[in-house]
Amino acid sequence: MNNFEYYNPVHIVFGKGQIAQLSQLIKPGQKIMLAYGGGSIKTNGVYDQVLAALKGYKVIEFSGIEANPQYQTCLKAAKLANDEGVDFILAVGGGSVIDGVKFIAAAARFDGDDPWDILRTSGSTLKEAIPFGTILTLPATGSEMNFNSVISRRETQEKLYFGHRCVYPVFSILDPETTYSLPANQLRNGIVDTFVHVMEQYATHDVNTPLQDRQAEAIIKTLIEQADNIMIKKEDYDSRANFLWCATQALNGLIGLGTVGDWLTHGIGHEMTAFFGLAHAETLAVIMPGVWTHFFQEKKGKLAQLARRTWHATGDIDTQAQAAIDNTVKFFHSISMPTRLSDYNLSQDAIDTIVNRFQERKKQLVAENSRALNQKWLDRYWIYADNYYSNVISAYFDDFFRSS
Ligand code: NZQ
Ligand code: ZN
Repeated sequence: MNNFEYYNPVHIVFGKGQIAQLSQLIKPGQKIMLAYGGGSIKTNGVYDQVLAALKGYKVIEFSGIEANPQYQTCLKAAKLANDEGVDFILAVGGGSVIDGVKFIAAAARFDGDDPWDILRTSGSTLKEAIPFGTILTLPATGSEMNFNSVISRRETQEKLYFGHRCVYPVFSILDPETTYSLPANQLRNGIVDTFVHVMEQYATHDVNTPLQDRQAEAIIKTLIEQADNIMIKKEDYDSRANFLWCATQALNGLIGLGTVGDWLTHGIGHEMTAFFGLAHAETLAVIMPGVWTHFFQEKKGKLAQLARRTWHATGDIDTQAQAAIDNTVKFFHSISMPTRLSDYNLSQDAIDTIVNRFQERKKQLVAENSRALNQKWLDRYWIYADNYYSNVISAYFDDFFRSS
């Protein structure tokens, strides 16, 4: 097992009716910015519950945070938060609203010249952020219990990550009933995103982490077991509660402790969203089976273990590992998630666009390295770039995408 540190200060408040707890969680007298997306919270009753629970606080609103939150929108919100002297932000929505609020909270307190640097440096130069809490309405990203955020910039077709301890939510309220209004495609997306988060921390090489392996497998098995009820039964509290907790556990840092991660599928997926507009989970379902096939030799031990324990696979290691890939694809199809580029009418041009982006970014990193912008960050990122982005490029030459 590799060395690790674990720190996660997020106060989770889980269950039916818990939005009413807001006044116990936010200090009296604070000025709150209520931030949300395109309006789903107004049609499903969550907005009314929030306003009722915030009676007595000074509240201003910022709405319109997009799916794949946009940089320019978040900058407007950060300016509003400063102009209004906001003490606390409440994010109400899915991963996009929560990620957007993480950036808003950090940008409002950023003392550099260009807030885009927060993303260019993956958050490594941040010092503080406005405190915020969340009410999650879409199980998928784990953003409610981690310090990650992914922000998109339409003008340059970029989608970049940042993370920092100062953007851990102070609390997150997880009420399964808020998910009843989710349409089928968002439920499917949430299941796949959760599945892939687990696997990107699991399907690498074994460093003797049997507890973490079984924690990861428990999430995968629970998702598979609950999927039919999640997808078919509209207001089934128990399956929604189990789904919600699986999604949070998949990316709150716990299952990956001491293991070796491989976020290649997410790395390529973010570029596919930035260029072609596929939903986050849609990209993952196309890419991950290809990544597993391409890196079969390195990943087959863990894939075989998953297949034995989840689908009772038998035969030699190669046969078992192949069973993990086949059963994963079958599971995605069972919840109507496509797994081919051609399902989105994308072909060779799309692949070239993504490969060019990785090549350009690598060149840019070399150039920036010479200016010694932030040596520590660049050294870390450079290792990331070497391990993963160059694999993407070599994978491209080996045709692993072309079968899609
Ligand atoms: O904007 P509103 O009107 O709220 O509608 C949203 C949005 O259109 C709707 N929705 C949310 N809750 C609903 C609902 N509709 C009906 N009933 C409800 N209860 O669903 C749509 C999609 O929402 P979004 O927040 O975009 O989805 P998701 O939670 O999947 O978040 C995706 C974003 O998170 C990033 C992705 O890259 C993407 O930008 N990720 C964040 C991560 C993190 N912070 O750790 C990790 C992930 O790997 C991912 O990269
Ligand atoms: Zn994801």
